[in-house]
Order: sequence, then structure tokens, then C-alpha cells
Amino acid sequence: VVIADGYDVRPLTADDAPALAAAYRRNREHLAPWDPVHPEDFFTEEGQEALVDAQLARADQDLMDAWVLWYGEQVVGRINLNNIIRGVLQSASLGYWVDHEHVGAGLASGLVRHATARADEIGLHRLEAGTLVHNIASQRVLEHCGFELYGTAPQFLYIAGAWQDHHLYQRIINDHPAGAPVA
Ligand SMILES: CC(C)(COP(=O)(O)OP(=O)(O)OC[C@H]1O[C@@H](n2cnc3c(N)ncnc32)[C@H](O)[C@@H]1OP(=O)(O)O)[C@@H](O)C(=O)NCCC(=O)NCCS
Repeated sequence: VVIADGYDVRPLTADDAPALAAAYRRNREHLAPWDPVHPEDFFTEEGQEALVDAQLARADQDLMDAWVLWYGEQVVGRINLNNIIRGVLQSASLGYWVDHEHVGAGLASGLVRHATARADEIGLHRLEAGTLVHNIASQRVLEHCGFELYGTAPQFLYIAGAWQDHHLYQRIINDHPAGAPVA
């Protein structure tokens, strides 16, 4: 799916590990304040191969939906629908980032819009996202994409080595009955 001139969002595949490792190495400082602390092998091809395998296995079980943003041969972002829960919740949590050389061009907003369309396609009712309270750029993205702030959770996630407060956002995707057949 082309979200801007030259930028293509594609499903995660087993072949993506080398480009992902390179992207995480290029963006190590950019992402560090917003991410869990990663072990060193996170930044290697082998480490990414193992993570991609685990993520694809979760996708097979309808527990996640993983997408990669490509600019030519380079990975320049990701968006994941994490922790998909069916039953009466029909919800998932968004996680996303954009390469430091490509921020400020509306790409994250494009990724979130893509994930919203995708959530509808796979029969989810709701998406949620949590941002650090000082992550103004991410809050802007969510507001642009129709998400609303519904609360602030103290010590919500262990990010950059500490339990940190998060603003919680959600968007209702559709009102299909829970348990309706999924496409
Ligand atoms: C947050 C992030 C995904 C935004 O990506 P992006 O492609 O630049 O996002 P967009 O261009 O779609 O929108 C960014 C918005 O934030 C605004 N913004 C950016 N930095 C800002 C800042 N420091 N203060 C206030 N607003 C800011 C931009 O102006 C833009 O809003 P506008 O369209 O109203 O002008 C990117 O910076 C990133 O990857 N950060 C690190 C990882 C991260 O925070 N992920 C999200 C975790 S919840």
C-alpha cells in the first residue's frame, strides 16, 4: 500500500530481518527514549530473524498484524497491531515508529490510517494506543487520525528503563457485533 510518493507499507515477511536490523541500528538513538531497552542482539540480523519468526508466529495465531514501511530497499518505519483480543473486546494496541531522516512528512499519520483500515478489514471494533506523556508528536499523529484521549495511566509501561506514565487513546472502528464472521 503506497502511503506517500515512494513509501510502501507491506506485511512483515521472513526476508525482512536484515533491513530491519539496519534500520534499528540507524535509529538507535532516535528510538531509545520511546522503546524498551533492547539487548545487543536486537540490532543484529540474527536477533531480528528470531524476532520476525516470533512475530510471524503470533500473526498466524491472530494475535498480531505486522507491517513494514519501505523506501526503496530501506526500512523506514513500522506499524503493528499488537495484542489482538477477540471475543467481546475485538481490540488491538498500536505500536509504530518512523526513521529519523523521514519524520515530519506525515508518514506516521499515513501508517496509523493504514492500520485503522486494516483493523476494520480484520473485524476489530477498536484500536488503542498509549503514548508517553511527553510524546507530543505521537499524540498529534493520533489526534489527526481520529483517536481520542480517554485517560492517563500511571506507571503504565516499562520504557527506556523505567515505569512511565502514558496517555491512553482509542478509536472506535465500527459497530459490527462482536463475534460476527471475520472476512
Ligand atoms: C512520533 C513519530 C512516529 C511521528 O512520526 P512522523 O512521521 O513525523 O509523524 P507525522 O508527520 O504524521 O505527524 C507528526 C506531527 O507531530 C508534530 N510534531 C513533531 N514533533 C513535535 C514536537 N516536538 N512538538 C510538537 N509537535 C510535534 C508535527 O508537526 C506533526 O503535526 P502536524 O501535522 O500537525 O504538523 C516519530 O517521531 C517517531 O518514530 N518517534 C519515535 C518513536 C515513537 O514515538 N513512536 C510512537 C510511540 S507511541
